[in-house]
Amino acid sequence: MGYISSETISLIRDKTDIISVIGEYVHLINSGRTYKALCPFHKEKTPSFHVLPDKQIYHCFGCGKGGDVFAFLMDLEHLTFPEVVRFLAAKCGVEIPKDYDPEAERHEDLYTVLNEAASLYEKALYAPEGKIARDYLEKRCITQETAKKFRIGFAPDSWDYITSRIGKNPRLLSAMEKVDLVKKSEKSKNGYYDTFRNRLMIPIIDVHGRVAAFGGRVFSPDQEPKYLNSAESETFNKRKMLFNFREALPTIRRQNEAIVVEGYLDVISLWQNGITNAVASLGTAIGSEQIQLLARNSKTKDLNLYFCYDADEPGQKATVRAISVQKDSPVNARVVVFDDPADDPDSFVSREGGENFKKMLEKAEDIYTFLVKKRTRGMKPPFEIPVKEKLIQEFKELVAEIQSPIARSEVIRKLSNLLDIEPNILEKEFESKRVEGSEFSKKGKNIVSPELNAGIQRQEWILKYLLEQPEEIEMVKSMLTADDFTDSSLRAIYETICSSQEAAGGTLKPAEILAMLDNEELVSRLSEVITTLEDRPEVPFKECIQGLIRRRLETKLKLLQKRIRDAEDSGDDIAITQISMEQLEVKRQFDMLVNSH
Ligand code: UTP
Ligand code: MN
Repeated sequence: MGYISSETISLIRDKTDIISVIGEYVHLINSGRTYKALCPFHKEKTPSFHVLPDKQIYHCFGCGKGGDVFAFLMDLEHLTFPEVVRFLAAKCGVEIPKDYDPEAERHEDLYTVLNEAASLYEKALYAPEGKIARDYLEKRCITQETAKKFRIGFAPDSWDYITSRIGKNPRLLSAMEKVDLVKKSEKSKNGYYDTFRNRLMIPIIDVHGRVAAFGGRVFSPDQEPKYLNSAESETFNKRKMLFNFREALPTIRRQNEAIVVEGYLDVISLWQNGITNAVASLGTAIGSEQIQLLARNSKTKDLNLYFCYDADEPGQKATVRAISVQKDSPVNARVVVFDDPADDPDSFVSREGGENFKKMLEKAEDIYTFLVKKRTRGMKPPFEIPVKEKLIQEFKELVAEIQSPIARSEVIRKLSNLLDIEPNILEKEFESKRVEGSEFSKKGKNIVSPELNAGIQRQEWILKYLLEQPEEIEMVKSMLTADDFTDSSLRAIYETICSSQEAAGGTLKPAEILAMLDNEELVSRLSEVITTLEDRPEVPFKECIQGLIRRRLETKLKLLQKRIRDAEDSGDDIAITQISMEQLEVKRQFDMLVNSH
């Protein structure tokens, strides 16, 4: 691997703002000196993910992940360090010598070929041969403006439209194969042939605005499959991405509302009618990771999520599924139901317009009403007891997830009306589930004595001070030894701070030291220490050091006392005198320490 100088890395670090980078993935809420958000690394309902702009680090108290901006991107995007460096360098305009890293180069190739393919498909749409696709768009009432906005294109009916255009370079050809733009074949002319032929091409864009994959739609109903999607690749993770997510995000954040639909064309058609906060899953049913992706971008209040699926039977089944998938996420989910079972968002909005679609959102049903209605369709109340029992079973988990007591009683009142059951009976039913299902067994922090705890906190404070004031390292080293750090992780961190600052002449910032710890557990521990102490009242530096010395002397005294007792038992007078002298000296040191402030 090529070499990236530490100056370059420092420069990138200085020019990068962790808040704006992480802010692309989560909705950060400012609270004092830190920012909080729902953690992007694990599923959660209340924010335990902290970002510290001063220190340029993050830490999650839920899952323990922490680090600097480089670690964040490596972890979340599964990138190598050089790839992150290159990515951030491009973002903040730092020049990196071209020849430094062939691996990062190759990763870049993937996006290069995807982007070029998108451009070629777009070009083909407006060429004479693209008439079939243009006619199709016209039939679907998609304007040229919308087509350009989504970079819609056309893959001509050819085996080598893009193979022959991008594939002359063998390196790029291999990149094209990796992202499923071409497939290998002995029989074809160049050894490869185009994956997408004679289809309307819809690029799938990632959070950074890069083309990550394609969905290709056929023009006639007798062709199969109706949509061909790129296979999963290094650039395309179906479960973690959403179609139109990047473009929808500003509206989602502004309105605290997102609409989930089934199809690409639903999203596109809604957009054309002024509804810009719709997203769709990518050829699979919506999953919890995608819901969490949306939820993480909500404001302080839960995100309002509208499931707006096709009104036909499969669409309604998919809605029930989506409802069960969202229950672990902090969203307020509702369901849009069209009266006409032939409708989907696209057909509805094309016919009725954006304003009427917004009215449908206002009329959206809460998930409970939706489920009761769906399960009792064709039945007349009062419902049979087994039907009621089945429904209550279904609602148990959903209701157990509701945190706010007010919202809970509201839901119970509603269900009591819908099912015609006394509210207090329902309350009892749901209460049992709540106790069994109490998922909040906090991660096992060892219970330690307050005294021991105070000692560890002092060690933590000293580390925090040393990160901020490396010039004090010499002083601390003259008073403490590494063994005064009784916690082995804290000791290892202390040693790293001392040795790395010495080597760097005290110029390293907290985030850089964090990056130097090569052990994930230590990184997590240090980011936790920094983040926790940020919001705590300070304990003076001197007091912490004295506390540790006192503890050391106390331990020593206890040991000496034991040795004296042993010597007394064996009647060794010489030893008794000697140890007593030592004891006196330690006591003197102890008194000096106590009286020094
Ligand atoms: P739909 O069949 O409802 O497609 O499938 P659509 O997007 O609404 O398109 P039109 O309006 O019929 O033209 C919904 C989604 O399911 C995935 C696609 O993501 C599609 O957008 N799908 C569907 C596939 O991946 N492959 C298929 O063969 C069909
Ligand atoms: Mn559809």
